[in-house]
Amino acid sequence: MSFDLVLFGGTGDLAWRKLLPALFQAFRHGTLPKDGRIIGVARDDLSHEQYRELIQQRFGHVDLAKRPSPEEFGRFAQLLQFQRMDLSRPEDYARLKDRLEQRNADQVVMYLATAPSLFMQACEQLAAAGLNTPRTRIVLEKPLGHDLESNREINAVVRRGFSEQQVFRIDHYLGKPAVQNLFALRFGNSLFEPLWRREHIANIQVTIAEDIGVEKRGAFYDQTGALRDMVQNHALQLVCALAMEPPISSDADAIRDEKLKVLRSLRPWTPEAINQFAVRGQYAAGNVGGESVPGYRDEPGVNPASTTETFVALRGVIANWRWAGVPFYIRTGKRLAARDAHIVVNFRAAPHAIFRTPLGGANRLVIQLQPRDGLQLHLLAQGQENRRNDQSLAPVHLDLDFDKRFGSERVGAYERLLLDVIDGRLNLFVRSDEQEAAWRWVEPLLDAWQGNESGLRPYAAGSWGPSAASAMIARDGFCWSEEQ
Ligand code: BG6
Repeated sequence: MSFDLVLFGGTGDLAWRKLLPALFQAFRHGTLPKDGRIIGVARDDLSHEQYRELIQQRFGHVDLAKRPSPEEFGRFAQLLQFQRMDLSRPEDYARLKDRLEQRNADQVVMYLATAPSLFMQACEQLAAAGLNTPRTRIVLEKPLGHDLESNREINAVVRRGFSEQQVFRIDHYLGKPAVQNLFALRFGNSLFEPLWRREHIANIQVTIAEDIGVEKRGAFYDQTGALRDMVQNHALQLVCALAMEPPISSDADAIRDEKLKVLRSLRPWTPEAINQFAVRGQYAAGNVGGESVPGYRDEPGVNPASTTETFVALRGVIANWRWAGVPFYIRTGKRLAARDAHIVVNFRAAPHAIFRTPLGGANRLVIQLQPRDGLQLHLLAQGQENRRNDQSLAPVHLDLDFDKRFGSERVGAYERLLLDVIDGRLNLFVRSDEQEAAWRWVEPLLDAWQGNESGLRPYAAGSWGPSAASAMIARDGFCWSEEQ
């Protein structure tokens, strides 16, 4: 099979940090079809050779293990080409069309790794230039819109040029191996599924903690905030994977139908619920990993009086038979104590205590997404030190480290998703109705928080966020995983 992958934003951060390294990994692993071209598109005036040199230079910044040797890069670079384009000029699309028609590849992928403000223009122009043939797939990076209305507008324009089967909306969390394993755990094994419901589960916590700040994206982030950047997409997709019913098959729409039902079952926010169960914070100066770091308002590109949240903690309620009464807590933030993304499924306490040890919180399943990929099952057991048989139990856990088990050279999120696009598999991509339902759920929070300083809690960089997040969960009688 032959392919042409046109990378709009071909000199941008996403291209050289994530996409080209992922394509290189696929090339190194021999999974990228050999007969392919990767055509970087940007406004710069570069020859193919200059583009290859630029990318080789930038590859010097990626993880050492993922960095190609000069020989490897040389072989990969044969796939790389460059095309100068101004996305507002129809004649530039016509030139792209000529280039693509030179070889008529079996699959043509248009990857929009550009500023989101260019999505509509690019989709319209691609369609107008006749670049939306049945062999074309279009990939849209998040954020797709700023709110429900802008998301709908973009999707309407995309729909005019491309059918839903041609549209690949990326949420890179769905490509993470830990998320694949969550599907495998739930739907490939029979062990947990009977317990996976309100009768046995007390609460579920999704934490995506980052220790980095806004890096060089201050101006973008200040218009975005943690709710749009992480909750509307990544965190809600994790909630879907946790809460969905078993799909009837692994077909893309069978999976997406079930995820959509979860999003539609999320209880809409009321002003009272926002007051009690939605916490937002913004990092102040502090210390991360032994280094002093500035507060958010002092970051380059950020308004010194910004009210943008860099931390969110929420309680979601899924109003259906399986999950009635089970709180789903979501927490995410920048400049937290560690890079640590995990899900905790807290099972209910045993109904009757015959041991002295308190049983609440003893049984939990932890799905670790970052920094490593694993599963831990926490239990109580009789410990060695219990020589006098005093009926006390000790906490222990079973630990499955997927990197150790399967080797650390596993397929990364973008590598998997890019190969899925080339192969035309939509399972791990987000459908427009899912995206709309997710925007609909977060919109009352966006409205309540917009430009409003009251309730925005400062937290020290390097902490676990504002204490209000602990107070929120304590109101239900629970605590966050690191407090257990
Ligand atoms: C991106 C966000 O979607 O995800 C970033 O825009 C965030 O702000 C990143 O840092 C986190 O991804 P990962 O894979 O490093 O957890």
